[in-house]
Amino acid sequence: MSLLEVLARAEHALRPTLSALPPKLATRLFSAGRTAFSKRFAKELPAGREIRFEPTMAWGLKFQAPLWNAAGMFKSGEGYAVVSRQGAGAYVAGTTTSRPRTGNVLDGIRWPAAVYARSHSASNWMGLPNEGHAVVAQRLARLERVPGCPIGASVSAQQELDEATALQELIDGLVLYERAGVDYLELNESCPNVEGHAGGPVLDAGLLRRLHVIRDQFLRTRRRPLPVVVKFSTDTELSQVPELIRTLIELEFDGVILGNTSTRYAQHRTQIHPADLGVYDHFTQTFGGGLSGAVVKADALALATEAVRVVRSLEPHHEFHVIRCGGIASATDLLESQRAGILLNQWYTGYYEAFARHGHDLYESLSVDLQ
Ligand SMILES: Cc1cc2nc3c(=O)[nH]c(=O)nc-3n(C[C@H](O)[C@H](O)[C@H](O)COP(=O)(O)O)c2cc1C
Repeated sequence: MSLLEVLARAEHALRPTLSALPPKLATRLFSAGRTAFSKRFAKELPAGREIRFEPTMAWGLKFQAPLWNAAGMFKSGEGYAVVSRQGAGAYVAGTTTSRPRTGNVLDGIRWPAAVYARSHSASNWMGLPNEGHAVVAQRLARLERVPGCPIGASVSAQQELDEATALQELIDGLVLYERAGVDYLELNESCPNVEGHAGGPVLDAGLLRRLHVIRDQFLRTRRRPLPVVVKFSTDTELSQVPELIRTLIELEFDGVILGNTSTRYAQHRTQIHPADLGVYDHFTQTFGGGLSGAVVKADALALATEAVRVVRSLEPHHEFHVIRCGGIASATDLLESQRAGILLNQWYTGYYEAFARHGHDLYESLSVDLQ
C-alpha cells in the first residue's frame, strides 16, 4: 500500500469527526487538505491493474471500463498515468477556459470545499481555477497513451469577456485540443460557481448561440472524428430533457452529460445527515457552491434515463451517447445504468470514497463486484 493510500484511508476514517469541529474550521481544513492531496495524488504511479469489465465501444473509441473521472479532478491535465493504470475507462482534463483563472477565495479560504461524510456528499465553490486551454492542451499532447483509456478535455467559455470574443476564444480552444490529439471534448455549460452558468432556462439564447457557432465553426470543420458532448446541471428539469436532446442532436453534437453539481440547497438539505448539517448550512450560506455525491444521484439517474429514452425515440442519424454523472459510487450504480441503457458513467465524489476504501484497486474491485 502506498503512503497516499494509507493517508486516504486515515483521512476517510477521520472525516466524520470533521463535522464535530466548528464549521468554519472544518471547511478551512478540508479545503487545504483537498488541494494538497490532489497534487500528490496526480503524481502516483501504481502498477497496472487487471480489470474485468467488458470494454465499451462508443464513437469508435474503446473504453476499458464504463466509468471514469468527472471533469474538475485533473484541472491541469495531470493524473492520466495514475487513473489509466488503475483501469479507468477514460480520462478527462479541465475544465479549462481561454485565459487562466485563479478561482475563488473567500474568508481567507482558497478554492472552498466541504465534505458531508455521513451523507456521502460534498460541496465546492472553486470557481474554475485553471491554466487555460493552451497550456493544458500542450500537456495532453505529450501524454503516453494507454489503450482503452481515451483522453478528453472539458472546456468552457470565458464568462468575463464580451460574447463575440468569448466565442472566438472558445473555438480556438477546441482547435488547440483537436491538434493536441485528444479523443473527445466536453463543453461545460453548467458550473454553478462562475457568473453566467447558474440558473435560468436550460437552453437560453446565449447557449443556443454558442451551440450554433460551435456547430458551424468546429463540428463541421473537424479534421477527424472528435466527439463533442455537452454537460448540464443535475438541476435540469426532467421536462426539459426532450427539447434539450432534440436540439443537441439537430445541432450535430455527439452526446450529453447529466450532470453537474446542484444549487438546490433547501431541497437537498433533507438528504443530509443531522451530524453534517452544521458544515452544510455554513458552506451553502457562506459560499453557495455546487452539491455533489449521493444527494444528486437520483436526479442524475432520472435525467440520464430520460435522455436515453428520448435518443432512442429520435433515432439520430449519427452516434449520440448519454453519460451519467452524479452520485455514482458502486457496482450497483453501474448495473442501474446498464439496465437503463446508459453505456458510460463518470464519478468524482464517490471516486475519492472508493479510493479511501480500495486504494488503486478501486476499478478492479468494481469490476469484480459486477461479475
Ligand atoms: C471539487 C470539484 C470540482 C469540480 N470541477 C468541475 C469542473 O471543473 N468542470 C466540470 O464540468 N465539473 C466539475 N465538477 C463537477 C463534477 O464533474 C461532477 O459533475 C459532479 O461532482 C457530480 O458528480 P459526483 O456526484 O460523482 O461528484 C467538480 C466537482 C467537484 C466536487
